[in-house]
Amino acid sequence: MAGKGSGYGKTILFGEHFVVYGVPALASAIGDTTTCVVESKEGKGYELNDNRPEIPGYKEKKFNEQKVAIKNVLEFMGVNLEGTSLKITFGGDLVCASGVGASAANCVSLARAINDEFNLGWDNEKINNAAYEGEKGYHGTPSGIDNTASTFGGLVYFIRNLKGGPNTIETIKLEKPIELVIASSGMTANTAVVVGDVRKKKEENPEWFEGIVKEYQEVIKEGREALENMELEQVGKLMNTNHELLQKVTVSNDVLDKMVKLARDNGALGAKVTGTGRGGNIIALTPGSELQDKVYNALKDAGHPAWKTLIGV
Ligand code: MEV
Repeated sequence: MAGKGSGYGKTILFGEHFVVYGVPALASAIGDTTTCVVESKEGKGYELNDNRPEIPGYKEKKFNEQKVAIKNVLEFMGVNLEGTSLKITFGGDLVCASGVGASAANCVSLARAINDEFNLGWDNEKINNAAYEGEKGYHGTPSGIDNTASTFGGLVYFIRNLKGGPNTIETIKLEKPIELVIASSGMTANTAVVVGDVRKKKEENPEWFEGIVKEYQEVIKEGREALENMELEQVGKLMNTNHELLQKVTVSNDVLDKMVKLARDNGALGAKVTGTGRGGNIIALTPGSELQDKVYNALKDAGHPAWKTLIGV
């Protein structure tokens, strides 16, 4: 017998980095998933087979973080590797890159496979908690938005509870799914380092940071409303504003800015960095398959691995 599990990839539509400080953010699961198979037998320790597709170098760069993540998930779920040995195999169609929720999907898929293998009967909430512990191996102090989107799927409005109580998690339904393009800069970023740098900037100049967060709070308020009303031009504009705020907190770079511009020049209603930044991915809002193809091709032709996806499914 083998235990099986999977976790969605995700993209953040509004609020990466700001979400760490307890303001709302919006993320969407994407259709691509990481899968995990766990086989247990008598013995000790675990063997890891990581067959996930990747942006070159991603898995090697993240290997040490992944080891801590696996340890955290196993400990949280009460798996004792002194008397049990595990064969853990990751796969799936989610191409691992910074910004696409690869670490979260890794942790969620593992938690689900362990749950299945040992018949623990854990519900989504507990799986999400286990994945959050795993995410600490990758991020240090994750907000929890990535593992939440990866566990529950759909479009998730998320507020981190800074007092340690339960986070606010609301699933949003859209009238119909919206086409989105995700494209990779090819650079792998270290989330803990980038989040740490932003925190340093905040501490050096709290008033400046507070001003940016205030601007962002308008963006997320209007962004949620616009999405729920399917006012997509407005959603795009607000994504652009969100990108500017991310530039201000120094998580964009020249490559990402060029990609964002290319997407907009080709008709995207809005484009922004998504996730950690300083590498990783951008997203572009491209309602309708024709516009989606156009933006996708432009980014691909410029040498960026790109994916077509839907949000709000
Ligand atoms: C990373 O996908 C999102 C960040 O906001 C970090 C976090 O929320 O834990 C940068």
